[in-house]
Amino acid sequence: MTDAADPLDAGERLGTEELRALQLERLRASLRHAYEHVPFYRESFDKAGVRPEDCRTLADLARFPFTTKADLRANYPYGMFAVPRERIRRLHASSGTTGQPTVVGYTDRDLSVWADLVARSLRAAGGRPGDVVHVAYGYGLFTGGLGAHYGAERLGCTVVPASGGMTARQVRLILDLEPSVIMVTPSYMLTLLDEFERQGVDPRGTSLRVGVFGAEPWTEPMRREIEERFAIDAVDIYGLSEVIGPGVAQECVETKDGLHVWEDHFYPEIVDPVTGEVLPEGERGELVFTSLTKEAMPVVRYRTRDLTRLLPGTARVFRRMEKITGRSDDMVILRGVNLFPTQIEEIVLRTPGVAPHFQLRLTREGRLDALTVRAEARPDAPPEVREAAARSIVAAVKDGIGVSVRAEIVEPESLERSVGKIRRIVDLRPRGDG
Ligand code: DLL
Repeated sequence: MTDAADPLDAGERLGTEELRALQLERLRASLRHAYEHVPFYRESFDKAGVRPEDCRTLADLARFPFTTKADLRANYPYGMFAVPRERIRRLHASSGTTGQPTVVGYTDRDLSVWADLVARSLRAAGGRPGDVVHVAYGYGLFTGGLGAHYGAERLGCTVVPASGGMTARQVRLILDLEPSVIMVTPSYMLTLLDEFERQGVDPRGTSLRVGVFGAEPWTEPMRREIEERFAIDAVDIYGLSEVIGPGVAQECVETKDGLHVWEDHFYPEIVDPVTGEVLPEGERGELVFTSLTKEAMPVVRYRTRDLTRLLPGTARVFRRMEKITGRSDDMVILRGVNLFPTQIEEIVLRTPGVAPHFQLRLTREGRLDALTVRAEARPDAPPEVREAAARSIVAAVKDGIGVSVRAEIVEPESLERSVGKIRRIVDLRPRGDG
């Protein structure tokens, strides 16, 4: 629990009714700001026959049109900005894996709100002023490094801007500078784990107390693995460049029960990914965000493609989102069955003799797609354990997900390691024929 020396900020102390009133007021102002200053929003609202003043209740937001990544691409680079370029103090670019990048911008005030929200996140994670915070998210156009950095400074921490990569040096810095908090992708944390072991250093014996992991999906078994191997608390941080970067939602260390959405700044909805209809609270679907306070680049009903559900608040007044199952883009459809890498992660991590490193290979055999789960053996696993592991993964996928796959247990340290966001799916299917 947050103690008197580190009080919750004003937003976190709102009651539910006050929060809803604040959201409505901010929502109306934000819709007006977008409509008046971004030609794209003016056109899309006009086409849908809605005006900002039509939003009289929070539920009225459902009448407004969605915004997608394609809209951001079509207005690249500066078309989505609602302020003159001179007022944009920083640009970041989203980590699009395909085609044209998308650019996002921040005014001075946006940068300050962002730092406040990452500071709030870090405190919810168990960070306190005076902590040394090791930031191993990449610095640069990616929002992870700089977002974490300014938030940790805002909280009053000592920041080590390690960025991603140069893994041996990361271990050295952790041992020498004695951080209590690390902010990094969960997959790169596993790469660091290998390096600790290679150097013969006990990862449970470091100064680290808390890890703030995000930027990619990860599961409860992965949390347990990281917590046990490092003897730390592992909590989840979520965000996306289009909305602000890290610090849109954060898990509280005292409950570890999903991520509280910082709803006083970002209004969440869950919609049916196919029909776009708003789903009732508690149902799973696609997460959609409307920014409530952003100046440079307001977003209205932005389709994240991330799949989750909303739950009532616990440690904070704000609603929670469940850990992300995956992005609709990462969903594999195998002989009619939908499958997410996180489902395979849960299976791999509970299989004896297998390390938490895996990859999904998609191939085409005749007219059918085939999936091979490649997972690494633990160094101490004898051949019979490896064979049993392969059989057990195949059976667990068949039983749990309902589709036949192959499993290969490969040599320790033979799969590519992450330095940032990991790529789980290797698609080796011939291109161009769907
Ligand atoms: O990944 C921002 C970030 C940096 C978040 C550091 C947390 C920590 P983008 O590069 O724009 O921004 O990618 C956003 O990453 O739509 C999700 O698909 C995925 N993602 C981010 N956080 C999580 C998470 C940053 N905690 C995209 N769990 C999002 C699952 C996540 N997926």
